[in-house]
Amino acid sequence: MLIAPSILSADFARLEEHAQEAVDAGAEWLHIDVMDGHFVPNITFGPLAVEALASLKQRTGVVLDTHLMITEPIRYIQQFADAGADIITVHVEACEDIRQTLRQIRALGCKSGLTLNPDTSLDHLDQWINEIDVAMIMSVYPGFAAQSYIPDSSQRISQLRAMIDHSDSHALLEVDGGVGPDNVAEIIDCGADVIVAGSAIFSGVVSEKIRQLRSHAAPVAQQDRATAS
Ligand code: DX5
Ligand code: ZN
Repeated sequence: MLIAPSILSADFARLEEHAQEAVDAGAEWLHIDVMDGHFVPNITFGPLAVEALASLKQRTGVVLDTHLMITEPIRYIQQFADAGADIITVHVEACEDIRQTLRQIRALGCKSGLTLNPDTSLDHLDQWINEIDVAMIMSVYPGFAAQSYIPDSSQRISQLRAMIDHSDSHALLEVDGGVGPDNVAEIIDCGADVIVAGSAIFSGVVSEKIRQLRSHAAPVAQQDRATAS
């Protein structure tokens, strides 16, 4: 399981330091939630937030996972790529031309991701599954941190897992929204490769929260190890 802490819940007065705590605790990716007040009813930050993490990326190799909740993201992909984004994920609902948008992301040397809102049919991913690097399930309606996980998401994760496994896709399956110690095992069980967690990580001692997520994600494996030793 890869962990992608969402910096939306980090302390922006000390963003780099707070993000570094997550990386030091083993977070492989940092998830950067970009909102435009148009595609979603909230405004967060733009390419400058990615740029602010660029030196942390240089030092540690952490992957900057940029989630664009913006209308017509193709207009801004160059800016996010220049700022240092490694993965750029866009919403199928927000793109006029998905093919061109994915092409632009790749042309700028970034990995491409596609996601969809909880009430958008997974069929919309089918056509793209072999060409994307990340397929992401939104398990909350995008727009805000600290919402509750939508229970129907588990079925969607399993369906997307099957879609990936029955294709030639190399896409990683990422799950975003409402993930915490209480549901992470179920989410991994359904087939997630990467989990995003904002409020569950930045709400306390970051290293402790990450350790807790990992231990809840693999209780069976851990028990097996404990019995063997
Ligand atoms: C929702 C964002 C999520 C969210 C994650 O619009 O895309 O990344 O902030 O935050 P938590 O983990 O608090 O649900
Ligand atoms: Zn997100």
